[in-house]
Amino acid sequence: MYKSLVRGGWWGWMWQSPPMSYQPPMSNDEFRRAGHEMIDWIADYWERVETLPVLSQVEPGDVRASLPAAPPQSGEAWSDIMADVDEFIVPGITHWQSPNFFAYFPANASPPSVLGELMSAGLGVQGMLWATSPACTELETLMMDWMIDLCGLPDRFLSSGAGGGVIQDSASSGALVAILAARERTAGQYRWEELVAYSSEHAHSSMIKGCRIAGLMESQIRAIPSDETHAMDPAALRQAMIDDISEGRRPFFVQATSGTTSSTAFDPVDAIADVCKEFVAWLHVDGAFAGSAAVAPEFRFVNAGLERADSYTFNPHKWLLTNFDCSMFYVADRQPMIAALSVLPEYLRNAASDAGDVVDYRDWQIPLGRRFRALKLWFVIRTHGAEGLANFVRSHVEMAKDFHARIEAHPQFEIVAPTTLSLVTFRHTGGDADNERIRDAINNGGEAYITHTKLNDQTVLRLAIGAVRTEQRHIDGVYSLLAALA
Ligand SMILES: Cc1ncc(COP(=O)(O)O)c(C=O)c1O
Repeated sequence: MYKSLVRGGWWGWMWQSPPMSYQPPMSNDEFRRAGHEMIDWIADYWERVETLPVLSQVEPGDVRASLPAAPPQSGEAWSDIMADVDEFIVPGITHWQSPNFFAYFPANASPPSVLGELMSAGLGVQGMLWATSPACTELETLMMDWMIDLCGLPDRFLSSGAGGGVIQDSASSGALVAILAARERTAGQYRWEELVAYSSEHAHSSMIKGCRIAGLMESQIRAIPSDETHAMDPAALRQAMIDDISEGRRPFFVQATSGTTSSTAFDPVDAIADVCKEFVAWLHVDGAFAGSAAVAPEFRFVNAGLERADSYTFNPHKWLLTNFDCSMFYVADRQPMIAALSVLPEYLRNAASDAGDVVDYRDWQIPLGRRFRALKLWFVIRTHGAEGLANFVRSHVEMAKDFHARIEAHPQFEIVAPTTLSLVTFRHTGGDADNERIRDAINNGGEAYITHTKLNDQTVLRLAIGAVRTEQRHIDGVYSLLAALA
């Protein structure tokens, strides 16, 4: 039947020359050439990024208006596309890889991680199941275990025990997964509407977002007051739980932060764990930024209390030389998480999963599909080694100490929170308007980029040191800018 179709008539023609066959415009050889040029482009970009205005200076709508409103009818030359990148896209980039980027927290992109990202894209693996690429799953499990070793994390997170780790896209996803696992642990005991989640008033907004996505109402989320160092007050947490229980509600989830976004304050995880134990609440620790510091043994205070946490997250995509996205998420007991997230349709069944011998990371995250993120982390860890990683964070902490001292000595500036790692929070003593003026003058000038926060109802400036290419001379430069504006 098939042969007769191939041989004869219109159908035969269809089979031999399918009209749907498509000749891609970029051959393998052209890809090779363009790919080499792209690596050159990125390396050149990293060399010149220091000379570009850190905060993009375009107005809203400028980038879109500079590009055609409609897609091209025919394919275009690669050289034309790259020329447009330089002309229209680069001006609309805020340069997170600039050594003068001190805003938010850093988003590290280093050469080995970018090569890992490229290889992951080239392999095009979708690692939802062990069977869909065993190396994707097994390298990821190994990297999660390696990171326990590198950061001195508790053994309860090792894959060989009841817990384990997975690479999430973000700390926000980690928080959501933790909330869902915590809810699962209460299943059959409490009604969903009775549950209450707690974090400090300085917890990252992803906590509230995760609670909302999980279906909690605002009335089921508590912001616990903090002390003068902006760390959660465990006595206030305990009292809030007692109050909730007396009104028929059930504490089920607490998020403690190791290194808050505003000031890298550290919630007292051990004391919070006592409260969680008393009221049988899940303890999730968010170390999104600060967690990476634990690669240097002298900064392992960031891990305090983790041996009592049910889950923990931190982001190598912030401060460990690995480009976005790459967020470590650990659980002490994987069962409630898997029970909350596993749905097994027939089309995903396979012998390895059925035998129960393998990890299927689709059950450890919100989406089904997943990228081969472990590759870039493997490249980063192997290229730098434990010593290199530790020296990387050490260098930033040293620069922060220097900047802190200079701000402290300046008559018009004051430090507003302890400098625990590489974030310095400070303000001009003139008041909020002066701080906003200074921030805007620096950012609009393009020479550096800093952001602000509110602490004790005052506008405070943040200098977050952690970009891959930041050196002491860049700290000298931003300090001079500040001093000139004081
Ligand atoms: C303490 C803290 N937690 C969570 C997040 C959110 O991180 P992600 O972008 O990975 O969701 C941040 C981001 O800066 C953060 O500082």
